[in-house]
Amino acid sequence: MPPTLDDLETLARQAGVILRAGYGQRHTIDSKSHAIDLVTETDRRSEAFLLRNIRSRWPEHGILAEESGAHRGNGSLWYIDPLDGTVNFAHGVPFFSVSIAYAENGVVLMGAVYDPMRDECFSAARGQGAFLNGRPVHVSTTDDLGRSLLVTGFPYDIWHNPENNLDNFARFAVRSRGVRRLGSAALDLCYVAAGRLDGYWEIRLKPWDVAAGGLIAAEAGAKVTNLQGGADYLSPPQSILAANPTLHAQMMDVLHAEG
Ligand code: IPD
Ligand code: CA
Ligand code: CA
Repeated sequence: MPPTLDDLETLARQAGVILRAGYGQRHTIDSKSHAIDLVTETDRRSEAFLLRNIRSRWPEHGILAEESGAHRGNGSLWYIDPLDGTVNFAHGVPFFSVSIAYAENGVVLMGAVYDPMRDECFSAARGQGAFLNGRPVHVSTTDDLGRSLLVTGFPYDIWHNPENNLDNFARFAVRSRGVRRLGSAALDLCYVAAGRLDGYWEIRLKPWDVAAGGLIAAEAGAKVTNLQGGADYLSPPQSILAANPTLHAQMMDVLHAEG
């Protein structure tokens, strides 16, 4: 039996209980690829829980999980970010999530993103709309960049790599009502889906950051592409832009303006 959206929501909520239990406690914090790329015992605990449960019910499925990498399987693939927003979590900032997506033959069919601090579960199944705690959500109708509130993030190699998104940040900062850096790519996309934010872009993310949120935003009416305008925002060199179609076009113009 393939999983249902209910299964994804339940798994995300259960892993969220692990995050909430760990929130505010003293953490074991390790660095990964870069000094500011962190992992805590709670990331690992949440991932172990999800892997155990997915494997026991769908042993033949593949899993791509942030902390333990790729686990081979048949044409079904789970994308797992057990704690999206680890820097916030490690510092006691209550903005982070669990992100789970399910794909078959390279197509993401379902996604669930759970914010355990607000008890908000965003979800979508392809072709069936996007939901927040079971109620439909839609992107904003803001059609003018000057009246938009945007969100972005920065890659962990920002200290050393000059291609660090600060140039884009500066451009949008003087053309919008504001640009937020909230710290959870999955929730950023869900906030666009719910119309709380108008547009989101980011570079050099990983598939587990955006597989669920990308589908949720698209099902809520967003145009979701890479920064070149192409449909593939999961493969390297990874980048993503999500907004209602009118704003998406305006954001593309800014991203690709000369100078
Ligand atoms: C990070 C968050 C952040 C984004 C980073 C991601 P993590 O994920 O989504 O908002 O800017 O690039 O890596 O490390 O907290 O799971
Ligand atoms: Ca992440
Ligand atoms: Ca993570």
